[in-house]
Amino acid sequence: MALRALARIDLGAIERNARRLAAVAGPAALCAVVKADGYGHGMVPAARAAQAGGASWLAVATAEEARGLREGGLEGPVLVMGALSPEELEVAVAARADVVAWREAFVDGLPDGVMVHVKLDTGMGRLGTRDADEATRVAEAVAARDGLRLAGAMTHFATADDDPGFLAEQLELFTPWARAIKAAHPEILVHAANSAATLREPAAHFDLVRCGIAVYGMDPFQDDPAAHDLEPALSLVSYVAEVKDAEPGQSAGYGRRFVAGRPTRIGTLPIGYGDGVRRALTNNADVLVDGHRLPLIGTVSMDNITVDVGDSGAEPGAEAILIGTQGGERILAEEWARRLGTINYEVTCGISARVPRVYTP
Ligand SMILES: Cc1ncc(COP(=O)(O)O)c(C=O)c1O
Repeated sequence: MALRALARIDLGAIERNARRLAAVAGPAALCAVVKADGYGHGMVPAARAAQAGGASWLAVATAEEARGLREGGLEGPVLVMGALSPEELEVAVAARADVVAWREAFVDGLPDGVMVHVKLDTGMGRLGTRDADEATRVAEAVAARDGLRLAGAMTHFATADDDPGFLAEQLELFTPWARAIKAAHPEILVHAANSAATLREPAAHFDLVRCGIAVYGMDPFQDDPAAHDLEPALSLVSYVAEVKDAEPGQSAGYGRRFVAGRPTRIGTLPIGYGDGVRRALTNNADVLVDGHRLPLIGTVSMDNITVDVGDSGAEPGAEAILIGTQGGERILAEEWARRLGTINYEVTCGISARVPRVYTP
């Protein structure tokens, strides 16, 4: 049975991407970032595939996500990278997750048994302290408390994808601080790199790299993931539910944003913005059917889109690929991102919960 909309997730691709990133990063270890439901791919299966490819750490943004990993049966170290309220901290601790700290007051409130990574803000301007002395005091406060363990020293890059100059500035701030903490506490992990920094800057690898986007086979530089031997893991699939002819002057969709100028065969696919096909793709996307690129015509509705079937011969029942490959043609999440003026991250995170994820090994 054809499903109206599904996201096909190639777990083998995630595993191979992780293996590739682990090789690039080596001897540094790989932490797979699986927050936001594995960037829309499904957190638990993505995490398992990344581990199979050699990821020895997992990272999430929230305590609930850490709990979800444990409930999904995942073992091994998990880092919650986000800020934690007292209530969320309890959830993170119960999930045996490592946490991030940058204020002494937060450390004072930690229960015994927690593993702590101290964050220096070297230019991202979100979480962490900009004051290296404060970061050092926090690290020493953690190390000095019997019940806690200092597990890491970290930062996060703001421009690894598009401004190597600022990346270098952040590295210059981070490296001496991290070296000093590591000299005093050789057992800790120093980590900084996201996918872009992992791929472009070996000096940012340290002990561990935290890769998200590249694990899923998308390009952190918004270009072609194949340039880095990465394989997109997600395909967004629908099918042709209806084909009919429009005479000149007849239209398709809300607002009549497509009006036939000549006899046109119009196919209707039962997928729409309720599934994550953003409305801004109205008259501005292609769909693959029978190996042909068919233009999306008219307005994207909540549950349907329409395409110009042309002379492709597409018939009802034919599979339609919105993101993915078919017959030598390919539509990347990066293509959607370009059309939408956004980034590939938002494209796959935006595929809604209504779309079943179907996993292939
Ligand atoms: C702190 C931190 N580290 C690493 C990552 C992974 O970044 P990317 O998906 O660009 O590899 C993220 C994701 O945004 C993050 O917030």
